[in-house]
Amino acid sequence: MAPERHFFSFGNGGALRYHSLPRARKRRAPVFFHDDTMTLSEIAAKQAEALSEISAAADSVAIEAARVKYLGRNGLLPALMKGLRDVPPAEKPAFGQALNALRGALSAALEERRAAAETSAAPKVSFDFSMPGSWRGTGAIHPVSEVIEETTRIFARLGFTVADGPDIETEFNNFDALNTAKHHPSRDARDTFWLGPELLLRTQTSPVQIRAMLAKKPPVRIINPGRCYRRDTTDATHAANFHQIEGLYVDVKPVSLADLKSTLAHFAREMMGQSVQVRFRPHFFPFTEPSVEVDFTCHVCKGRGCAVCKQSGWIEVMGAGIVDTRVFEKVGYDPECYGYAFGMGVERIAMIKHGVTDLRMLYGGDLRYLRQFL
Ligand code: DAH
Repeated sequence: MAPERHFFSFGNGGALRYHSLPRARKRRAPVFFHDDTMTLSEIAAKQAEALSEISAAADSVAIEAARVKYLGRNGLLPALMKGLRDVPPAEKPAFGQALNALRGALSAALEERRAAAETSAAPKVSFDFSMPGSWRGTGAIHPVSEVIEETTRIFARLGFTVADGPDIETEFNNFDALNTAKHHPSRDARDTFWLGPELLLRTQTSPVQIRAMLAKKPPVRIINPGRCYRRDTTDATHAANFHQIEGLYVDVKPVSLADLKSTLAHFAREMMGQSVQVRFRPHFFPFTEPSVEVDFTCHVCKGRGCAVCKQSGWIEVMGAGIVDTRVFEKVGYDPECYGYAFGMGVERIAMIKHGVTDLRMLYGGDLRYLRQFL
């Protein structure tokens, strides 16, 4: 620390005046002289200290702070330069050289550090924001969803609204109210996933018929796509989890098999193309009387017979029929109501539409396969 130096002068008519050192000097950061000078080795030590500080400066702010501290107007170097005047003349050249060398070394180190900080702050990979982005491709509707959406749209145009029901159903809705005999094989634990004494994973979408009728008086015109569950071993045409679309129309005025057939024929043409034919085959379902199975002409051979339709020219698409009066009784409807119902397998229609021969391919999640249907 430099000793505070005071002096007196006799200027200004001899009046004794007291001067302190100029303010700027007083406030200056600690000065590094012993006896108003610094030895050459002290200068060398300072230089080493400054260089290590500069090389440790992490960013441009730290580098600038080091520059100000050592080379700035009130920094180390100007202070040492001023101290030169107190150095005995014989030693001045050596000190002058030492200070010049100090300035050169610090400036070079600062410059080098600044350049290094600039390159490391620059992004490693240059990025051109004007380049177009990479193409990720657009997704598409899965064939099963596509059939559900298309079917819903077709029936919506005929005045059907979409009804909903839960996957977990009561035994009453899934079996009893649908007039299914107490010992009907479909109730067996080998066919149905039971969750409790009266709760199960619905085996069909038909319980939504019951829900719709319990909720509203006729006329009822609903369509219901949804998941179903059966204890089937998975193979090319069976899965434990699949989809159905249920339809129900109930009115207080007569509704006939002819109405059902014309409605389903309209659906078939919208879904498969204008040339498709529809036929009814007698069948049995507990909740319809009479019951039918509905076939469409084979889309591959147009009815002439091929391997897909096993030479029959027809493909079975759904079950249907006139709602059994015992179902109306279960939901508290007047047994004199009239109605038709139908239920189709969604995967089956998707397979027919797209020529899929193995149901498992629809759920394999293999995009190379599914992309064919985009
Ligand atoms: N639920 C029946 C099944 O899973 C399909 C079915 C047949 C639904 C006739 C109906 C119907 O609504 O009237 O096999």
